[in-house]
Amino acid sequence: MNFINAFGKIPLLLFIMILGGSMTCGATYVDPKNYGSPKGEVCIKCHQETSPGIYNQWLESAHGQAGVNCYDCHRAEKGDSDAFEHKELISIVVTPKDCSKCHEKEFKEFSSSHHADAVAVLDSTDNFFGRSTWGIKNQRTACIPCHGSTLEVQKKGKLAPATWPNTGIGRINPDGSKGSCTACHTRHLFSVAQARRPEACGRCHSGQSQPQIEVYTRSKHGVMFAAYDNRMNMDHQKWRAGKDYYQAPTCATCHMGSIPPQMEVKTADERIRTALESVLSKDQQLLTALLPPTPATKINYGATHDVSSRLSWKLSPVICKKRDNWQENRQQMESVCQQCHGEHFVKQHYEQFDALVGTYKKIFADPATRMRRALIKHGDITKENFDDQLDLTYWKLWNNGGRGALNGAAMAGPVYLWNNGMQEVSQRYYMEFIPEVKKLYGRGADSFLRKNGYIRPTYKK
Ligand code: HEC
Ligand code: HEC
Ligand code: HEC
Ligand code: HEC
Ligand code: HEC
Ligand code: HEC
Ligand code: HEC
Ligand code: HEC
Repeated sequence: MNFINAFGKIPLLLFIMILGGSMTCGATYVDPKNYGSPKGEVCIKCHQETSPGIYNQWLESAHGQAGVNCYDCHRAEKGDSDAFEHKELISIVVTPKDCSKCHEKEFKEFSSSHHADAVAVLDSTDNFFGRSTWGIKNQRTACIPCHGSTLEVQKKGKLAPATWPNTGIGRINPDGSKGSCTACHTRHLFSVAQARRPEACGRCHSGQSQPQIEVYTRSKHGVMFAAYDNRMNMDHQKWRAGKDYYQAPTCATCHMGSIPPQMEVKTADERIRTALESVLSKDQQLLTALLPPTPATKINYGATHDVSSRLSWKLSPVICKKRDNWQENRQQMESVCQQCHGEHFVKQHYEQFDALVGTYKKIFADPATRMRRALIKHGDITKENFDDQLDLTYWKLWNNGGRGALNGAAMAGPVYLWNNGMQEVSQRYYMEFIPEVKKLYGRGADSFLRKNGYIRPTYKK
């Protein structure tokens, strides 16, 4: 064995390992030609003194470590409506489009998700509450912290105080792009570990109309997360459910996270294959001739910034319905669950969930909606949303109770499924909604109820 030769190879080997490592482990690969502008040096020097908090967050971040500086992100072009002269031409707001210079994949996925439409939905008919209470324009102030504002630029790149600061999820930016990446990746750390935590989503996904964080915290998943979060490798670049962590899923796991590549192998085929292999194991040639090649990797769901892509139902509107490509979406979500659960368990979870959605629609939401519409047509109440007692009862039935129940069933949170969910729905419907309808309709109410699908509660011994 020649020592010198062996030694000579080590640096080369190391080099290959480092190169290979940096290309495969680094989930984000950004070409260094795209950052480290020399014009950013002066920003850092001065802001180190004037805003040490921002400087230190930046310095600790993956950006600071990689050499992405203030100017790389804040630079503006001539003609940008929010550009202003500040040593260089810069803008305060760094939009998803600005981030896309280096993170195109995340930008594209985010932009095609429903998150990016969060301002648009405020004008949709799904906005039952806002459409006739204090007016869509006025009530925006209460909606924009989560949904997002439409940024308005005043003179010299200054942003109108009514519209900024704001990091709503669907914010409309001066460059026309939608949303804000800092909604989840808090600046200037822009960390993945922090965005993977449920609290990152719970800032908006909380409260009566959207109780996802409450559902999660009280679910077994939330319990396990609370117990083991410090062991879940939250800061690993690869964060594949079941492989890099397995203690519990967070919101990000199910709606955005990656899973290890899956072989799509039918169990029966696999058994035949193993049997044949053991019989033919001595004759390698015959084995290769008889057996089909190893099945190709079929399912490979990487992380996605499109939070809509794994959902089968649209649960938030009054009448929830299946999405267009619901089967495919569901398959993706199921593949995530199956990193930690068996197929049978997961399918039956979905059976229970679908059954609850069915019950809720058939017994409560659908008849209540039909009755309200008929009463409007009949002239018993107006078509405005919040000027009749029945409107409020109806609203509480689906917005407070219904959404709680559906989210509870979807994400295995029993408290919301029952206490804040079906209990609320039943009480509002039988004790308030139906008596109000009877009073409004007057004579013949019983047949009106029946015609619209009312199911009377029955007592069985
Ligand atoms: C000589 C010091 C100095 C230099 C150089 C400098 N800044 Fe500033 N910057 C300030 C001060 C002072 C403010 C106003 C107070 C504050 O917001 O901290 C400010 C404000 C800002 C703001 C917020 C503007 C606002 O109105 O809220 C941004 C963004 C910013 N600087 C980025 C940069 C970038 C990017 C560079 C490099 C191109 C840079 N700064 C260079 C001192 C400096
Ligand atoms: C990875 C991109 C990125 C880098 C690097 C970056 N910023 Fe920012 N910065 C942002 C984003 C995003 C916002 C939020 C603005 C918004 O969209 O509302 C912001 C906001 C700001 C603000 C205004 C908000 C506030 O909290 O006062 C200042 C000031 C600022 N940055 C200064 C700096 C300085 C100084 C540096 C360098 C030390 C820097 N930024 C580096 C992306 C970046
Ligand atoms: C000029 C190029 C550039 C721009 C613009 C940029 N980034 Fe980055 N980003 C990078 C580089 C380089 C890395 C480090 C990559 C690595 O570690 O492999 C990175 C890493 C990240 C990470 C991973 C952090 C972690 O904890 O591992 C996140 C999240 C991120 N960027 C978000 C953003 C957001 C949000 C914006 C816009 C506000 C943005 N970036 C703008 C170049 C950029
Ligand atoms: C800044 C507020 C905010 C944050 C943070 C946020 N969301 Fe959302 N999210 C919203 C709003 C508002 C909607 C409704 C938007 C719409 O329907 O257009 C929504 C909708 C959704 C939907 C339903 C999408 C659909 O197609 O119906 C999912 C799933 C979702 N968010 C998951 C997440 C996850 C997971 C996180 C954390 C990693 C998160 N959100 C963080 C505000 C937020
Ligand atoms: C605390 C954050 C928050 C605030 C404040 C908020 N929302 Fe939302 N909103 C959300 C989230 C999160 C969702 C998604 C819920 C889901 O899919 O279950 C949502 C969903 C919606 C939807 C259904 C979206 C769809 O795709 O059909 C409408 C409509 C809506 N919100 C209107 C409003 C209005 C109007 C206001 C202000 C009066 C408001 N919201 C205030 C967080 C918020
Ligand atoms: C709804 C919350 C949310 C928003 C909004 C969001 N991110 Fe992320 N981002 C996450 C989560 C969670 C992860 C970690 C995903 C995983 O498990 O790998 C992540 C990961 C990343 C990474 C690291 C990817 C990798 O492969 O290592 C980058 C870069 C990034 N985001 C950039 C962006 C940019 C750019 C935007 C705006 C267009 C954005 N993010 C908006 C939640 C968000
Ligand atoms: C164990 C996986 C899992 C976890 C953890 C999880 N979710 Fe979900 N979520 C689901 C499933 C499954 C559905 C129902 C999907 C469908 O429609 O088929 C759902 C539905 C939703 C919806 C309803 C979308 C609509 O149609 O209106 C929102 C919003 C949401 N989740 C956000 C969150 C947030 C925020 C968290 C964390 C606090 C979270 N989820 C945690 C699996 C999960
Ligand atoms: C990262 C691993 C992981 C993922 C991914 C995951 N789970 Fe779980 N889940 C767990 C663990 C751990 C438990 C606790 C086991 C127990 O019941 O003792 C659990 C428990 C459950 C329970 C039992 C709740 C109860 O009250 O008994 C249900 C239902 C469930 N998961 C459904 C799902 C569904 C549906 C998905 C996908 C949408 C999913 N899980 C994804 C780890 C995971």
